[in-house]
Formats: sequence, structure tokens, C-alpha cells
Amino acid sequence: MSKKIVIAVDGFSSCGKSSFAKLIAQRLGYLYIDSGAMYRAVTLGFIQNGLIENGVVKGDGLLDNIKRLEVGFSLNPKTKKHETTLNGVVVEEQIRTISVANLVSVIAAVSEVRERMVELQRKLGIGKGIVMDGRDIGTVVFPSAELKIFMTAEPKIRAERRLKEMIEKGQEVNLAEILANIEERDYLDQTRAISPLRKADDAIILDNSLMTIDEQMVWVEKLIEERIK
Ligand code: DC
Repeated sequence: MSKKIVIAVDGFSSCGKSSFAKLIAQRLGYLYIDSGAMYRAVTLGFIQNGLIENGVVKGDGLLDNIKRLEVGFSLNPKTKKHETTLNGVVVEEQIRTISVANLVSVIAAVSEVRERMVELQRKLGIGKGIVMDGRDIGTVVFPSAELKIFMTAEPKIRAERRLKEMIEKGQEVNLAEILANIEERDYLDQTRAISPLRKADDAIILDNSLMTIDEQMVWVEKLIEERIK
């Protein structure tokens, strides 16, 4: 019989981590958690509560605010997909806007925010049988995950992929704006003081610049098999 494992998928933004991790979870019947969505939901909450001024988080009321923000996931009975919730309200669309994307790296660098989210992420992983994607899953959240993958792709290819997604959703954006956002987030994610984005020593690199999702699945299947035996 195969054992249940924890799969950590880290890497740069817009590398297709979510599609990749979601598909693995679906194939294995595992729980999929998008940890980036949790930081996005907190960012949205801070915006709604007036805690951000000119791109800077106001210190006053920060701790109080974090405690009051309930981030979670609920299953949409129609689509059968999990959707991110903030204080019980589905915010899946609002957290994907460019205004949230522009501020999320700043919020994700706040230590109190990270402590709260990591605690929640570990609780979600207690039963194993989980695929979680993010930036610090293999290094901080689940350092003993049985399989760690570090994803990367050329910035321009990532920007083109995201542009396509956003246009399909009817958002008004252009390639230069998205590329600038991706490059800024790469920089902030890698240089922040707490839990910066870095490859765990035992993570395996997947550069999917020129790979289809099917090719990525073939690539990962062997690794999974070795670990669940
Ligand atoms: O994966 P994403 O682009 O939705 O993530 C949004 C932001 O959240 C990203 O800029 C970095 C941050 N993040 C993080 O700091 N740690 C994680 N585990 C996941 C995301």
C-alpha cells in the first residue's frame, strides 16, 4: 500500500505552480493548498481595513487586524473547486487583481503575518496527503516534506502566461506592467528578511519554460512513485 506524503512546491511567481500542484493533488486524491492565496487574502483584508497607505503598512492596529482576519478555503458545490475565503466571504476573484498583486509582497514580509499563516498551513498539513505551493513550504512550513520541488521559468514567459490569464478574466493590463510586477516580486520575495524565497537543499528544480503541463506531470510522476512506495 502506498503511504501519504507531503509535497512542497515552491518557486517564483507565475511559474504555473498552482496548476502543477493542483493537478498532482487531483491525481493522488490529496488536499491542495495555495499558500499564496492566504497572503493575498490578508492583503485584501488590510486594504479593506485601511491599513495600507501609499504602499506602506501602518503599524497601528496591525496585530489586532491580523487576529480578526479569518483566512480559509471553502468548497464550491457547483465547480467542486476550493475557493479562498476571508472572514467567511469568498474572495477568490478579488485576491487575483493587480492592486492586490502589487501589495502582497510587502504584506508577506510582515513577521506577524507570516507567523499566523505558517501556523495555519501546518495545521492543514497534519493529516499528510497534501500538496502545498508557495515560497517557503519546503524550507519553513514543511522542512521534512517527502517531496520538494522548486519551480522556475523565464520571466518573459511567465509574464506572457499571466497576461493571457488576466485578459481571459477581462482585466485591463499590459505585458510591460505584468513583467515589471513579476520582476519586482521576484526581487522582494528573494531578499526579504524573513523566510525569503530560496530552494531547499533537498528540493528538485523544475524549469518549465518550455514544458507543457503534461510533460511536467510525466516528469513528476516518477518522483512521486519513488516516495510513496
Ligand atoms: O503565489 P502567489 O503569486 O499567489 O503569491 C502571492 C505572494 O505571496 C507572493 O508575492 C509571495 C507571497 N508568498 C509568500 O511569501 N510565501 C508563500 N508561502 C506564498 C506566497
